[in-house]
Amino acid sequence: MENMELPPRPKLFDFHGVSMTHYFTDNWENIQNFQARPDDILIATYPKAGTTWVSYILDLLYFGQTAPERQTSLPIYERVPFLESDFHILPPGTELADKLSTSPRLIKTHLPVQLVPKSFWEQNCRVVYVARNAKDNAVSYFHFDRMNQAEPEPGDWNNFLQRFMDGKMVFGPWYDHVTGWWERKETHSKLHYVFYEDMVEDTGRELDRLCSFLGLFPSAEEKEKVRGGVQFDTMKKNSMANYSTVPIMDFKISPFMRKGKVGDWKNHFTVAQSEQFDEDYKKKMKNTTVQFRTVV
Ligand code: A3P
Repeated sequence: MENMELPPRPKLFDFHGVSMTHYFTDNWENIQNFQARPDDILIATYPKAGTTWVSYILDLLYFGQTAPERQTSLPIYERVPFLESDFHILPPGTELADKLSTSPRLIKTHLPVQLVPKSFWEQNCRVVYVARNAKDNAVSYFHFDRMNQAEPEPGDWNNFLQRFMDGKMVFGPWYDHVTGWWERKETHSKLHYVFYEDMVEDTGRELDRLCSFLGLFPSAEEKEKVRGGVQFDTMKKNSMANYSTVPIMDFKISPFMRKGKVGDWKNHFTVAQSEQFDEDYKKKMKNTTVQFRTVV
C-alpha cells in the first residue's frame, strides 16, 4: 500500500443541488435502490461531526460482548459501511452493507436527508444523527481535507471557511444538513439527534440516552467498558478505529483523531472571521429551533 500511487484530488460538482465528488455518486443507482432492513441502524452525520465515535459506540454496544474479535480484526469502516462511498480501494458501501451478516447492520451515511435511499424510511429504521457546532465542524473538516487525498483541495483556511459558509463542501451546506435532519424528527419518530458537544460533556449520560433509544439494557459494567473504550485517547491509539489503515490519508499532515475537543475553533478563527461567521450564521439559521453550543 505504501507505494500506491495516489489518485488526483476530486473536483466538486453539483449533484441534485448538493456539492459532491464522484466518490459518492459513482454508485448512485445502487445507493438509491439500496434495500434497508427493518432492524438496520443508520448513523447519519455531516462529515467530521463525530461519526466514527458514535459508530464505534454502537458497534461496542451491539457486538462488544458477542463478537469481541470484531474489535481487533476489522477496521471500523468495514464494521460500519459508508453507504454512498465508492473509493475503489474498497468495495462500494452498498456492497459491504449487503454482505454484512450481523443483525442489526450499522450503516453510516453523510447524505443530506433528502438524498437518503427511501427504503430506510419505508422500513422505519432507527436513525442516530450526530451534529456538531458549525465552527468546530468547519475546523475539523479543514484538517481532514488537508490530509485526505480523496477530498477536494482545501486551499488555505480563509478560503476554506468562505467555501464552508457558501455551502460548497462535499455533502453540501452544513446549515441545510443539520436543519434538514432536525426537521425530519417531526415525521420520523425513530430518529435520535445527538450533539457532539453533549457527548464530550458527559459521554456516560449520552450513552444512557442512546441505549434508551435503542432499547438496550447493558449492565453497569458493560456500559463502563464501552465508555472507557471510546474515550478519545483510547480510540486514537486503536488502529481498528483511528483510520490509520487507510492509504489515502496522510497522518503526517494531520491525524484522523486530531483533537476531539469543543472550542478548537478559537485557535483558528480570527476575531473578524468569527464575527462575520456569526452574522452570516444568524441569517442562515433564523428559521430553525436547533441550537448549538460552541463551548462546554
Ligand atoms: P477533530 O478533528 O476536531 O479532532 P468523523 O468521525 O465524523 O469524521 O469526526 C471526526 C472528529 O471526531 C475529529 O474531530 C475526531 O477527533 C473526533 N472524534 C473521534 N473520536 C472521538 C472521541 N472518542 N472523542 C472526541 N472526539 C472524537
